[in-house]
Amino acid sequence: MMELLSSAQVEQFLEAKLADREIAGLIQQFALPYRELMAYYRCAMMEVSEKFHVLNEEMSLQYDRNPIETVKTRLKSPESIVEKLQRRGYPLSVESIEANLNDVAGVRVICSYTSDIYMLADALTRQDDILLIQRKDYIENPKPNGYRSLHLIVGVPIFLRSEKKIMKVEVQFRTISMDFWASLEHKIRYKKNLPTVADLERELFECAVLSAELENRMERIQKMADCYLNDSGKEKKT
Ligand code: GTP
Ligand code: MG
Repeated sequence: MMELLSSAQVEQFLEAKLADREIAGLIQQFALPYRELMAYYRCAMMEVSEKFHVLNEEMSLQYDRNPIETVKTRLKSPESIVEKLQRRGYPLSVESIEANLNDVAGVRVICSYTSDIYMLADALTRQDDILLIQRKDYIENPKPNGYRSLHLIVGVPIFLRSEKKIMKVEVQFRTISMDFWASLEHKIRYKKNLPTVADLERELFECAVLSAELENRMERIQKMADCYLNDSGKEKKT
């Protein structure tokens, strides 16, 4: 378990026990490779996040509109890593984290409209250094509870001193309303003592359907407005 200590814990450990050569050896063997791996994931995550900032910048110049509301990044905590490896029956080792988990590095992209999601996902996966590993479209096929989002697992190269490493990053694309719904559902689901309440689940599902409808109508308003703006622009030029 040494390899899965947080850096603060490792620091504490080092201070208290550095004199013990055996323990110092263990730290060399496990904690440092773990911290190194996390640093690689952090770099890959930043790389992907930066790509979205570039796309947003380009598109804001082209269309006078930012397709991205926010880009958030998160690195999975040591506790969640251990929990997921154990739950799925994988060994607890640094190698196993890299081989078996796809979501250690996560990037969440929040857009205004569904069409922005597909446009950005295409723009990302068309880049020649991005490898598409997995695509789950919960917008086309929402989960039974109503969850909608587009998930990609991509491979991103990071360039180290003497090698190139491909790191996996989970990218979740959501609209503002998909994110609003998912945040509420997530909070409720993680209230550990809450029993399964059919009424609550039905209500959540109905809200997911309603928010998808609302979102489509709002997107149509945006498109209509764009058409009028384009037409009036043309008239002014002639
Ligand atoms: P894990 O849930 O991470 O074990 O992933 P998985 O392999 O089942 O992959 P999936 O693509 O279905 O989900 C990945 C992530 O999407 C989750 O960790 C959540 O962050 C999010 N997610 C998936 N399903 C739901 C859901 O029903 N509700 C909410 N709020 N989030 C979800
Ligand atoms: Mg996950």
